[in-house]
Amino acid sequence: MTESLPAGLLATAVVPASSANLGPGFDSLGLALSLYDEIQAETTDSGLVIEVTGEGAGQVPLDESHLVVRAIRRGLAAGGVSASGLNIKCRNVIPHSRGLGSSAAAVVGGLAVANGLIAQSGSQPLTLDQLVQLSSEFEGHPDNASAAVLGGAVVSYTEPGPVYAAVPLALHPDIHLFPAIPQVRSSTAETRAVLPEVIAHTDATFNVSRAALLVVALTQRPDLLMAATEDVMHQPQRAAAMPASAEYLAMLRRSGVAAVLSGAGPAVIAFSTEPELPAEVLEFGAANGFVVEKMAVGQGVRWTVGAGV
Ligand code: HSE
Repeated sequence: MTESLPAGLLATAVVPASSANLGPGFDSLGLALSLYDEIQAETTDSGLVIEVTGEGAGQVPLDESHLVVRAIRRGLAAGGVSASGLNIKCRNVIPHSRGLGSSAAAVVGGLAVANGLIAQSGSQPLTLDQLVQLSSEFEGHPDNASAAVLGGAVVSYTEPGPVYAAVPLALHPDIHLFPAIPQVRSSTAETRAVLPEVIAHTDATFNVSRAALLVVALTQRPDLLMAATEDVMHQPQRAAAMPASAEYLAMLRRSGVAAVLSGAGPAVIAFSTEPELPAEVLEFGAANGFVVEKMAVGQGVRWTVGAGV
């Protein structure tokens, strides 16, 4: 039995950007970043009004096909409620189509703001496990979505069903994060399509060893980050689609900085135990169209009843 929510309920969610894969952990490792979108939803008697400011304004659809709306509807349904009308405000900061998890943030934020509405009905809000499951179903892979739900660094995995699950990692405090964001965009669907269906056993062995090592490097041994961020499973295959990113990645690694593609790219993310990146690395980035910013690890999605989180 679905309960229809009354008009006038208000909820807000704040959701982080994320970087997936982290090199060898394809579709598995992820990390939330301290860059946050905010979504506000209010129930109304009828209709749908969406206001988008910042990233995506004037570009994303303002109807039921909007990803945030689809996620809110899914979250409400999972909570056993529905809304006749919705007034939604999206304040977007996470760049779109760069590999920083903007679509995962839209989905996780939509589900979370639905939770803020569900909490005002008699129904049970969705658990973090449910948020991981539902958001990963939207994405088709759990790495960005799990990081956006849980915050911090996360290992996620898929079981038959598919059932998606995730466990947090305690990121070593000496690791500093430097996303490098280009102007150019890239479609994850297109850069997933260039990946081969089958990889050689030797390549699988290489990536398994690096992904396992990366968990150690991220949590206990940052000195191992260079070796632990090597990958042969997706970055070389994606290089032709994003030559500037591939070149910057190679330059960073030649300079001794552990860098990887952020998710499917074209953003790059560097991990360093030094508080700043070398000047020549920053200059190369700026000269090649990258904005390099130091970011902290992000908190998991938060939601609240009312207008502020
Ligand atoms: N693991 C996904 C991929 C992340 O590399 O395609 C997409 O953001």
